[in-house]
Amino acid sequence: MAERNLILAFETSCDETSVAVIENGTKILSNIVATQIDSHQRFGGVVPEVASRHHIEWITRCIDQALEEASVGYSDLTAVAVTYGPGLVGSLLVGVTAAKVVAWAHQLPLIPVNHMAGHLYAARFVGAFKYPQMALLVSGGHTELVYMPREHEYKIIGETRDDAAGEAYDKIGRVLGVNYPAGKTIDEWAAQGHDTFHFPRAMEKEDNLDFSFSGLKSAFINTVHNADQRGEKLNKYDLAASFQQSVVDVLAEKTMRALTEYPVEQLILAGGVAANHGLRQRLDHDMRAYHPTVTMLQAPLKLCGDNAAMIGAAGYINYQHGDRAGWDLNAEPGLMFDRMK
Ligand code: KG4
Ligand code: ZN
Repeated sequence: MAERNLILAFETSCDETSVAVIENGTKILSNIVATQIDSHQRFGGVVPEVASRHHIEWITRCIDQALEEASVGYSDLTAVAVTYGPGLVGSLLVGVTAAKVVAWAHQLPLIPVNHMAGHLYAARFVGAFKYPQMALLVSGGHTELVYMPREHEYKIIGETRDDAAGEAYDKIGRVLGVNYPAGKTIDEWAAQGHDTFHFPRAMEKEDNLDFSFSGLKSAFINTVHNADQRGEKLNKYDLAASFQQSVVDVLAEKTMRALTEYPVEQLILAGGVAANHGLRQRLDHDMRAYHPTVTMLQAPLKLCGDNAAMIGAAGYINYQHGDRAGWDLNAEPGLMFDRMK
């Protein structure tokens, strides 16, 4: 019988407490996600101290539930994988400590995982990875184009110079009175409006692979404030559609450019903002039009946001490549993307 490789994975980098059991890197036996969104909404964003306290309250319950739902015990496990950065230090520390305790108590290898590598591997649940590969990773904290010549080797070829795409969604959402995190609602509103405002597309035509979203955010906020001062009420659906069109135009344009500069077999779309319907449709269209021989895997909608299943999938690859953390593993809030272990 083939070996059954079971990884217990932890994700606590931001505001979701999540524990999963993953079989052979590709099968989700359980993926428990305890979200704290309600606790942060009244502050309009994640409050780090509140987040770490929630993680402490929930982490053991999540472990118990993950094992129970997967119908496995500690003795069945092969390894423990954990996000150790990037993220909020107090939040990361809860997951890192819990993972160390389980690994130490049950004498299991401890596998360090970069949160962004985790996002990428959410797409592994859709299909097999092919190399060379390109990924567009778009989340609340990061917006990056990553080139992977082979498995377990990552090179950032483009990134945001200011706000991340998700961060821009959350900030303009706040101006429209949408609760944090605003991305999903703005996406829904965008589908009901039209690009009537023609906001700027920063760096779209520049000869590089970087992004910038702060100018768009400012243009949006100025437009709304100016209208407020005139006592005018702008159509929120058109505002959302115009904002989204700018974001999607820039993301798609730079991704197509990256694929021309770095020929690959496959494109991966992942991260919280990968749930965006406008972005998914646009990439579907552009890939067929400009790079028809490159296959695309979009992370499943349910696994675009933070979750431990993706950490288990990435952890399995790290495990196979011999990555092991010592008991001195620490949280690294600013962990660089090219140290993707
Ligand atoms: O990856 P993620 O769960 O957390 C980070 O690692 O940052 O991403 C969360 C971000 C939030 O900014 C949220 O507003 C955004 O993803 N988001 C969306 C959508 N769903 C979530 N942005 C645009 N469209 C969506 N449908
Ligand atoms: Zn994330």
